[in-house]
Amino acid sequence: MQEKKSIHGAWASRWIFILAATGSAVGLGNIWKFPYIAGENGGGAFVLVYLVCILMVGVPIMMAEVFIGRRGRQSPINAMKDVAIEANHSGKWSFVGWMGVLAGFMIFSFYSVVAGWVLYYIAGMGTGDFIAIGSDDAGKVFNDLLADPQTLLIWHTIFVAMVMVVIVGGVKKGLENAVKLLMPALFILLLIMLGYSMQTEGFSQGFDFLFHFDFSELSWNAVLIALGHSFFTLSLGMGAIMAYGSYMPKKTSIGGSVITIAAMDTIVALIAGLVIFPIVFANGMDPGAGPGLMFVTLPVAFGQMPGGQIFGFVFFLLVGIAAWTSAISLIEPAAAWLVEKFGWSRVPACIVLGLVVWGLGIAALGSFNFISDFKMMGFNVFDFLDFMTANVMLPLGGLFIAIFAGWFVTRKMAEDELAISSPLLFNAWYIAL
Ligand code: PHE
Repeated sequence: MQEKKSIHGAWASRWIFILAATGSAVGLGNIWKFPYIAGENGGGAFVLVYLVCILMVGVPIMMAEVFIGRRGRQSPINAMKDVAIEANHSGKWSFVGWMGVLAGFMIFSFYSVVAGWVLYYIAGMGTGDFIAIGSDDAGKVFNDLLADPQTLLIWHTIFVAMVMVVIVGGVKKGLENAVKLLMPALFILLLIMLGYSMQTEGFSQGFDFLFHFDFSELSWNAVLIALGHSFFTLSLGMGAIMAYGSYMPKKTSIGGSVITIAAMDTIVALIAGLVIFPIVFANGMDPGAGPGLMFVTLPVAFGQMPGGQIFGFVFFLLVGIAAWTSAISLIEPAAAWLVEKFGWSRVPACIVLGLVVWGLGIAALGSFNFISDFKMMGFNVFDFLDFMTANVMLPLGGLFIAIFAGWFVTRKMAEDELAISSPLLFNAWYIAL
């Protein structure tokens, strides 16, 4: 078979693919969500279940996504279709891609709101708003922000624009340049923060909290949350990784790359926990504070420490970069599809998509103020979007991808694409699916 090429371009090397996919994986899920859900679900035991989910479920499904993307060399919608047809099945498998595009929009709409909070805090840290702030005042700053749709809208709009500017540039000029610059910055900032938290008195307590496995603390609900989160944090089940896989060079090993990405994502989440919990404990705060953990507790801690202003700024900058490189991958599948389908350039595609996600984001940010009474299944819009995507749509998408790769794609195609030399490892992957 003649090798297919993507019309969107290709990553310059295997490392760029790894950087880009890691950029997608490492995001608010690692730094904002993981610590607070670990905190709410008892710490260590939750972390252990989460690690098992990453290894047993996340890694095999990520390999499947990359291989389908690289085989199809198109947006997830068209890649699913073509790979299904190549394996003599119905092109209707493209529905998995459609569901992913929808999930991407839904995630983006609340993601961008949280990223907007982050931008607000970067600015606040930079201008010294949080110096010596007490916990009541920090709570008030956060609540006032949530209650103010105008401010939320401004930062949400800025974030949407930041993402679209990268996507407009396409795979090479946009995505590749962005991750080459941002990912190293992210790692450096993270290490600075780790070095800092290791010096706080709360470090060993924070370490214990994350790695002390006490199973009596674990509930079924926590297991479900851990499973859902493993999809969310690895960007699985919605086509982001499939799209990035479609730009991957042919000769590189999928298994090795995926393990590197999953390992980096996990390490960043654990380091984020090791940065946040020691600070929380050193200041006698509550690890189970929920979504406000990062936005209420940390500013107080930063406000009181020597040099906390600078570290606070660095910290939120780090979170902002992580959110940025993830959000790009939420929209790239839809952008690629618009270009393929209508032959558009990236400019109109980004204008249309930008308007769609900007509008959806307004509904999400309204959950905290003008439509706070509006409930779906008992959730406000923001929580509904989070719950539906992370706990329903991504695992479901992942399940379809696993069924497709394990039962519908021919074994020969999978063997070809994955090129795993050890039959044992290949079978392990097959069985895991
Ligand atoms: N993985 C990202 C995070 O942890 C979120 C994300 C989910 C990005 C799905 C793309 C697709 O923040």
